[in-house]
Amino acid sequence: MKDWSEIRSQFPITSRMIYLDAACIVPSPHCVVQAVSDFYRNLSENGEDRTALEGKIESVREKFAKLINATPDEVTLIKNTTEGLNIAANGIPLNAGDNVIITDLEHLNNVYPWLNLKERKGVEVRILKSRNGRLSLEDLKPIVDQRTRSLSISSVTFTGLKIDLKPFGQFCKEHDMYFVVDGIQGVGRLALDVRDCWVDILACGGHKGLMAGRGIGCLYVSKEIIDTLDVTFAGPPVDLRHEPVSTEFKQAEGAKKFDAGGANYSGVCALDAALSFLEKIGISNIEPYDLHLGQVLVDGLREIRGIRILSPIHPGESSGIVSITTQDNRQMAKILEANNIQVSCRGSGIRISPHFYNTEEEITTTINTVRESLEQMRSHQKPIWDSNSR
Ligand SMILES: Cc1ncc(COP(=O)(O)O)c(C=O)c1O
Repeated sequence: MKDWSEIRSQFPITSRMIYLDAACIVPSPHCVVQAVSDFYRNLSENGEDRTALEGKIESVREKFAKLINATPDEVTLIKNTTEGLNIAANGIPLNAGDNVIITDLEHLNNVYPWLNLKERKGVEVRILKSRNGRLSLEDLKPIVDQRTRSLSISSVTFTGLKIDLKPFGQFCKEHDMYFVVDGIQGVGRLALDVRDCWVDILACGGHKGLMAGRGIGCLYVSKEIIDTLDVTFAGPPVDLRHEPVSTEFKQAEGAKKFDAGGANYSGVCALDAALSFLEKIGISNIEPYDLHLGQVLVDGLREIRGIRILSPIHPGESSGIVSITTQDNRQMAKILEANNIQVSCRGSGIRISPHFYNTEEEITTTINTVRESLEQMRSHQKPIWDSNSR
């Protein structure tokens, strides 16, 4: 399916505003709303159909596995990216004196799970520093030693840099380090092949590219390393959940060994519907469309005096998410909001993040609004809060 106007019609928000904040949250399409409302209607009228709902979990595992080129037994459910990264940080066998590496481009949610090891386990957290907004293998090599156990990195940073994961994954494999990926800004927007990139663990919350809202997400753990990971939160495998008390500790097979307690079934229904929708559109259609919108945005913005584009914009580095800075970012975001254009202020910039429900016309309107606002800010006039440019 590649009928972008039909796809756009699935997102009611598109008739209310120019929504360019996919990197914050992707609004759910109709099919997700329908799936969640069906779930609660069923619960209310018929009680819980556990068999059908457990079937939906299997369906999510299959679809997510297919999306990232994994197998269903390597996938389980989590409540958000941070939970998945904590499962990684606490599951990797670490001793006092070992070190783990994160980067200076990570969201804090990929920092705290590792910092938490410092006090508790005496593990050192090392930082791979970026240069000109980019990360390189050459800068990683000098901070790796015999005691380095892992590298944790985003597939797309929260400011929009797409990381070329493969060389980092290969390096980790060669140096016997776990390769952990925070996938939330990339999965569902850009293709990601965990086998090709040598990813050991990938955590991905459901509220961005997966379109399922908060409170549900997926964790991938490669079968190559799964047996080496410890379980922090233990729960009985689902088929033993109602057995009499026993002191025998049986773990579920595969990634399900990280499950503890009942699943978020409404989230599962949302994610299952969203993954079906994604599958129908096809990541091979979404990625070029998102990158194209990002390129139109960059081409227009770079012509405007007073704008600095912070995101790397070269092919292979761009994710379609564009961060910029102006003389007054807060003021600019306010003006955009007053013109019914939703973006976010993040770090030292304004983050503009289109997705496949946006049109090129919306991008052009946004560029024009930014240009006019800057002209007003420069001439110290009162900004036009209601632009005619839409
Ligand atoms: C790169 C990145 N990682 C993690 C998060 C947060 O993840 P979660 O809320 O799913 O734990 C965000 C933003 O929400 C993010 O941009």
